[in-house]
Amino acid sequence: MAATDLERCSNAEPEPRSLSLGGHVGFDSLPDQLVSKSVTQGFSFNILCVGETGIGKSTLMNTLFNTTFETEEASHHEASVRLRPQTYDLQESNVQLKLTIVDAVGFGDQINKDERPIVDYIDAQFENYLQEELKIRRSLFDYHDTRVHVCLYFITPTGHSLKSLDLVTMKKLDSKVNIIPIIAKADTISKSELHKFKIKIMGELVSNGVQIYQFPTDDEAVAEINAVMNAHLPFAVVGSTEEVKVGNKLVRARQYPWGVVQVENENHCDFVKLREMLIRVNMEDLREQTHTRHYELYRRCKLEEMGFQDSDGDSQPFSLQETYEAKRKEFLSELQRKEEEMRQMFVNKVKETELELKEKERELHEKFEHLKWIHQEEKRKVEEKRRELEEETSAFSRRKVEALQSQALQATSQQPLRKDKDKKKASGWSSIYSVTIP
Ligand code: GTP
Ligand code: MG
Repeated sequence: MAATDLERCSNAEPEPRSLSLGGHVGFDSLPDQLVSKSVTQGFSFNILCVGETGIGKSTLMNTLFNTTFETEEASHHEASVRLRPQTYDLQESNVQLKLTIVDAVGFGDQINKDERPIVDYIDAQFENYLQEELKIRRSLFDYHDTRVHVCLYFITPTGHSLKSLDLVTMKKLDSKVNIIPIIAKADTISKSELHKFKIKIMGELVSNGVQIYQFPTDDEAVAEINAVMNAHLPFAVVGSTEEVKVGNKLVRARQYPWGVVQVENENHCDFVKLREMLIRVNMEDLREQTHTRHYELYRRCKLEEMGFQDSDGDSQPFSLQETYEAKRKEFLSELQRKEEEMRQMFVNKVKETELELKEKERELHEKFEHLKWIHQEEKRKVEEKRRELEEETSAFSRRKVEALQSQALQATSQQPLRKDKDKKKASGWSSIYSVTIP
């Protein structure tokens, strides 16, 4: 260890001395230590499959990992796009892999089935990771990382061009996930058509500014193969878990009346290329790109949205504490402003209600006065009528008395005349007229 210390100290010198090691120190075992630690920890790899219902997503996954994942067929009548993640624990040699396959169920079936749920799902996984990172007691070591490492975009083998839904979806996803476009069911398209179709797809992706995942060419060990494979994109794949006897070997293939399409035959399709690139050569790069590019972008935007920044206007670095204090002050003043606004609103509401009540009271009072006036008027009229009636009654009684008196008077004045008459009757005179007394 002495030699290591000497080298470290020598960094401070203007011209470092180079010392040769006296014996074996051992830090060349660091990569081995890393490997052993990673193997113990295990890996996670998350694949998102986007493509229309029945395009062959599940079959391809089964073919890729040479197993049968339990999946149910999606119906064409889903109300909206739904993301269905399923996690499997796989083991190859002594390496543990937590594989999550996410199916975008119902995608592309109907017009209103867009990419939003897919974007939301990817963001939600980033958010979960960010929340774990921001925890005081975080446990990123055994955290199940569900961030999507690769999106296999299944293109329908039409031989024409990409659908606008494909272009829009890939454009929305390209800043969030590594996209590998693949032409599904490539056995349904002829060789010459496939060649033209591939060129057309790549042209459309470039002209629409869609950034698909490029296999890295900066690592010498894989630069050559990756460069060759980049030229083969999009891969035209065939999936099948059926085994067919070809010669004296059992191979995975699709058997037709006119022949056999072998999944792992590079002359028949690009399945092997996809498997090599996705699993054997670039799995770690896909994981790294997800963390350093896509997650980093999400994290930066999210933290900036929350008010965090690295430096102020004078390029002075901002500490988290300062940012927190500034944000807290901003939040408290906003809270105070909102409280004041609500208080004012309440006061205004009370005043308004008070005014309304007063107005109602005034209206009621007016109504009451009016009714009172009507009542008095009625009473006055009734009183008048009663008086008139009384006067009429007394006038009638007066007239009646007068009439009786005049009758009585007439009766007394006719008394002697009757006596004479009676005398005449008695003396035999016949009565020729009579007198009627009223
Ligand atoms: P959902 O999950 O229901 O959306 O379907 P999927 O996209 O998972 O498709 P799945 O793998 O269930 O395959 C649907 C049908 O397509 C099955 O009958 C498969 O046998 C067939 N199929 C799958 N891959 C291929 C292929 O490469 N070529 C051809 N011709 N047919 C395929
Ligand atoms: Mg399926």
